[in-house]
Amino acid sequence: KKIYGVIGDPIAHSISPAIQNDAFAHQELDCIYHPFHITPENLNDAVKGMKAIGIAGFNITIPHKTTIIPYLDEVDELAATIGAVNTVSYQDGKYIGYNTDAMGFYKALSDQISNLTEKKILVIGAGGAARAIYFTLLSHGTVSVDITNRTLEKAEALIADCPFEKQSAALTLVQAEEKLAEYDVIIQTTSAGMSPHQDAMPFSIRNLSEGSFVSDIIYNPLETKLLKEAKQKGADVQNGLDMLVYQAALAFQIWTGITPDTTRMKNIMRTTLG
Ligand code: ATR
Repeated sequence: KKIYGVIGDPIAHSISPAIQNDAFAHQELDCIYHPFHITPENLNDAVKGMKAIGIAGFNITIPHKTTIIPYLDEVDELAATIGAVNTVSYQDGKYIGYNTDAMGFYKALSDQISNLTEKKILVIGAGGAARAIYFTLLSHGTVSVDITNRTLEKAEALIADCPFEKQSAALTLVQAEEKLAEYDVIIQTTSAGMSPHQDAMPFSIRNLSEGSFVSDIIYNPLETKLLKEAKQKGADVQNGLDMLVYQAALAFQIWTGITPDTTRMKNIMRTTLG
């Protein structure tokens, strides 16, 4: 039997075990996926221990996505540039790190939008999630991506830090709200609007143009206030569920070489999230 898992602190509420164990069973693979509660001070020992006992792969969640990097044998180029890893695979005696959060987000968005590289995009937020998304868009050749954030300096730092070709401006929230109609795609990456603060709006979308596309990485609630208002204004919208599904599906694919049934994964997530 092959053993997989997820490490984090806290870990009890992770829905990954339900999704991955169902996918293993559905593919009739003799594998199990277990949640491991690993505190920051135990991270190094945990990675060594997992390798010693032959854990075949694992996911990494908060707060270890960045701090795990020095303990891995190799890190995929995009994950290394972003500076965060959420999936590790054991290959030829090595633990190799990937960022399927970033890859999953890109797959979810590019499934919905053709010619993504030609679009004018606005990212709201400049934290860890924004960094993964911004770097991934640029690494795929989308150059026109502006960033707006409550703290402008963080948006400026993110742009300066990104090594890919770009035509990016850092904007205050007020500046971005004013020129919102210019954007084809708006991506909301902040925690504002996430349960239990679902009445919060990170941003006013009064100037949103009708044909635009709004993506919110939040999946709890499934429809944030921002998405509800965007729909009322005639925009197409996407919540965080697709990204969550694809980060899990891509991890499964890296481990097994098999593309899992993403509809099944989505159904389990919907049921688990209520
Ligand atoms: P994550 O890794 O989920 O991106 P993070 O790194 O803590 O989390 O980043 C949180 C992001 O949400 C930041 O862009 C933060 O803005 P600041 O940089 O100004 O702190 C943004 N954010 C959080 N709460 C917010 C709120 N109520 N309104 C606007 N932005 C908010």
